[in-house]
Amino acid sequence: MFEKVSPLPPDPLLGIMAAYAADPNPNKVDLGVGVYKDEQGSTPIFPSVKMAEAHLIESQKTKVYVGPAGSPEFNRLLPELIFAGAGSALKENRVAAVQTPGGCGALRVAAEFLKRLRPDATVWCSNPTWANHEPLLGDAGLKLASYPYYDKASGQILFDQMMSALESVPAEDIVLLHGCCHNPSGADLSQDQWRAVCELAKKKGFLVFIDIAYQGFGDGIDEDAFGVRLMTEQLPELVVASSCSKNFGLYRERTGSLCIVTQEAKQAAAVVTHLNKIVRGIYSMPPAHGAAIVETLLANPALKEQWIEEVAQVRNRMKSLRKAFADTMQQRLGEDRFRFIEHQQGMFSFLGISPEKVEQLQKQFSVYAAGTSRINVAGLSADNLDYVADAVAAVLD
Ligand code: LMR
Repeated sequence: MFEKVSPLPPDPLLGIMAAYAADPNPNKVDLGVGVYKDEQGSTPIFPSVKMAEAHLIESQKTKVYVGPAGSPEFNRLLPELIFAGAGSALKENRVAAVQTPGGCGALRVAAEFLKRLRPDATVWCSNPTWANHEPLLGDAGLKLASYPYYDKASGQILFDQMMSALESVPAEDIVLLHGCCHNPSGADLSQDQWRAVCELAKKKGFLVFIDIAYQGFGDGIDEDAFGVRLMTEQLPELVVASSCSKNFGLYRERTGSLCIVTQEAKQAAAVVTHLNKIVRGIYSMPPAHGAAIVETLLANPALKEQWIEEVAQVRNRMKSLRKAFADTMQQRLGEDRFRFIEHQQGMFSFLGISPEKVEQLQKQFSVYAAGTSRINVAGLSADNLDYVADAVAAVLD
C-alpha cells in the first residue's frame, strides 16, 4: 500500500531549518524557525536551567512513570507562574492543569477535549496565526475560521475589524488568542484592547482559549500574562496552553502545560480525568525531564530569580535588535518604513514583503525567513545586521 504515498511539501517552518542547514554560503542568516539565538548565533541553555538540571540529575531517585497528567509539582508550580495574582482560581482549585509535550501537546490535548465536548464548535483564529495552529486544532476535527487581526501593509492591529468579527461569534464557539508576543506578527493587544475583548467574551459567551508560548519575551513574566490573568478573573471559564520551549529554552525536551479554568473545584477535578484519558490515548504520558527541570528551578527561589534575570537579558537583546534593525533600514532607505518592528514584541515580525521577495532573499543572499515574510528577530546580530539590511533593501528595489 505504501507505493501510493507521495512525498508532502516541507513543513512551512521546519522546512526552512533544513534548507538553511544545507546552504553552504558562509554569510547565510537564519531568520526562520522560532528559536532564540545569542550574538554568536547559538541557542544556549540558560545557566539557571543548566544548574537546575544538574541538581535534578544529582537528586533524582527514579525514572518510574509519571502518569498521564505529568508531575503534580510541575502542575502546581507552572500555573503559579502563569496565573499568579489572578483572582481566586488557583486558591480555589478551579484550574485543571496537566503537563504536556510542549505547547503543541497542550494545544492538541485541548483540541481533542473541546471536540468531544462541542463537536460542532468552530475555533476562531487570528488572521494571521501560527502556521501549526491549523493542524494542531484542525486535525482533532475542530472547524477553523479566522478573524481579522493584523495588517501587513501598515504594521498595525486591525482592532475594530477584529472586534466586529468577534461580535458575531456564537456562544458555542471558541476564540483563540495569543497571550503575548503574537506569532507571527509580533503585534500584541494593549491592556485596554484585552479588556475590550474580555468584555465582549463575557457578553457573547464564547469560550476564550489563550496560547501563551513566549511568556517573558515581551515585557516581562508578569506583564506578558496580563491577558491570561485578566480573563481568569473576569470570565467563568478559560483554556490556556503554555510552552516552556522558549522562556526556559527547553525546546527539544517538549515541556508545556494545559490549564483549564473552571467555575468550581469539582469541575476542574472532573476535567483532569478526561484530559488523562485523552492523553492516555495519544501519547500515554508526557516526557518527564524538561518538566522536572522547570519544577526544580521554580521551587528554588535563588534559581528562579536568576532565571527571571536571564529571561530579561534575552528580552532586552531582542528589543535592542528590533530598534537596531529599524534604524539600519531607515539609514538604507531614507524612510522609516520598518519602525513598526521596534514597537512589536517577542521574536517575530513581518517584513511585509511578497513571497517572491522572500524567495529572492533566500536564493540571492541566503537570508532565510518564513514564506509569509515573518522574521525571527533573534536571528539578527551585530555581525549580520548590515548584511541583512542590505539584502532587504536590495529586494525592495
Ligand atoms: C515557530 O513558530 O517558528 C516556532 O514556534 C517553532 C515551531 O515549532 O513552529
